[in-house]
Amino acid sequence: MDHSATTPVDPRVVEAMRPYWTEVFGNTSSLHSWGEEAAVALEEAREAVAQVLGCRLSEVVFTGSGTEADNLAIRGVAWAARRAGRGNHIVTTPVEHHAVGHTVEQLRDLFGFEVTVVPVDRYGRVDPDDVRRAIRPDTALVTVMTANNEVGTVQPIDEIGAICRDRGIPFHTDAVQAAGRLDLNVDRLGVDLLSISAHKVYGPKGIGVLYVRRGVDLVPAITGGGHERGRRPGTVNVAGAVGLAEALRLAEEMREAENVRLQALRDRLIAGVLGTIPDVRLTGHPTERLAHHASFAFRDVEGASVVVVLDLEGIAASSGAACAEGEPEPSAVLTAMDLPPEWAIGALRLTVGRANTEEDVDRVLEVLPRVVAHLRDH
Ligand SMILES: Cc1ncc(COP(=O)(O)O)c(C=O)c1O
Repeated sequence: MDHSATTPVDPRVVEAMRPYWTEVFGNTSSLHSWGEEAAVALEEAREAVAQVLGCRLSEVVFTGSGTEADNLAIRGVAWAARRAGRGNHIVTTPVEHHAVGHTVEQLRDLFGFEVTVVPVDRYGRVDPDDVRRAIRPDTALVTVMTANNEVGTVQPIDEIGAICRDRGIPFHTDAVQAAGRLDLNVDRLGVDLLSISAHKVYGPKGIGVLYVRRGVDLVPAITGGGHERGRRPGTVNVAGAVGLAEALRLAEEMREAENVRLQALRDRLIAGVLGTIPDVRLTGHPTERLAHHASFAFRDVEGASVVVVLDLEGIAASSGAACAEGEPEPSAVLTAMDLPPEWAIGALRLTVGRANTEEDVDRVLEVLPRVVAHLRDH
């Protein structure tokens, strides 16, 4: 029940990747036929990704992770603006993943960028008008995530995109949680840069993509050779790229049917938890949320303890963002949503996926009330 943390690699994806470690192992930069063969596979993978995003092949940049895609987008555009002598300001939200939040903070602290953090409402949603008001003549970039990892809230990306386009400001979205779950057509979303990661969509870990709209000026965040048109140096992970492409293609193929199934499981889970456990709230938006994502706050219980006890019962959950696990403080996302600390420390995220069934949900509904009651008594 923790598919927002990661997913198992689909066996069809493993099969698609298999030849690219042993038989077709060439370096895509080599001039000989071994290299050429690998380069062809890489371009086919790029084409499959471009198909899902509705973009040009040249706009797809393979990266080493979703984190790296976010870093490249934000640092790359900010530095390009700095190089061109325009732009010293970044607009973002308080609910971004650390891959975005910490990158923006570093640009502020080490490079002198000014940052406007637009507020979110109690569901974690941004008002596009706040973004409109935050944009200044020297704004270099707006970055707002497509869907939140902790609370599942989906942002009005197309509306924010229209505002940014109107003002000629590059707009980045972290779509790592949205991939395989929402329509990622970059024109419909109205974005200029978009990050995804394979391991959230039943692909391998350690491979991501940054979509970069033609014409967007980008300084590479790391320096090296001319790979990925100079935007992401380093010998390309061909097996990873093939795996990401196949995983994304399959996820897109299954998306609508799977969303219907997962949403039914999610709603059963939400209704069961809210109906049986006292002092619990749903966190995130009640309807504008990812189909697989249920998240709660329990008053006066530590979410991390709930996760540990659920694990003993054979149930994997998260108390918020997996990467923030071990941090005792209430999550910044829930704090930004104005959730009082005595609720925010009791955050629990349950995210269903392809392998889950109604029986799994019912088992959680049988175990969780007992676990929460027990922890509250001790
Ligand atoms: C919203 C969001 N952005 C970025 C990332 C980072 O992606 P990766 O694990 O590929 O570095 C994650 C993963 O937890 C995420 O949920």
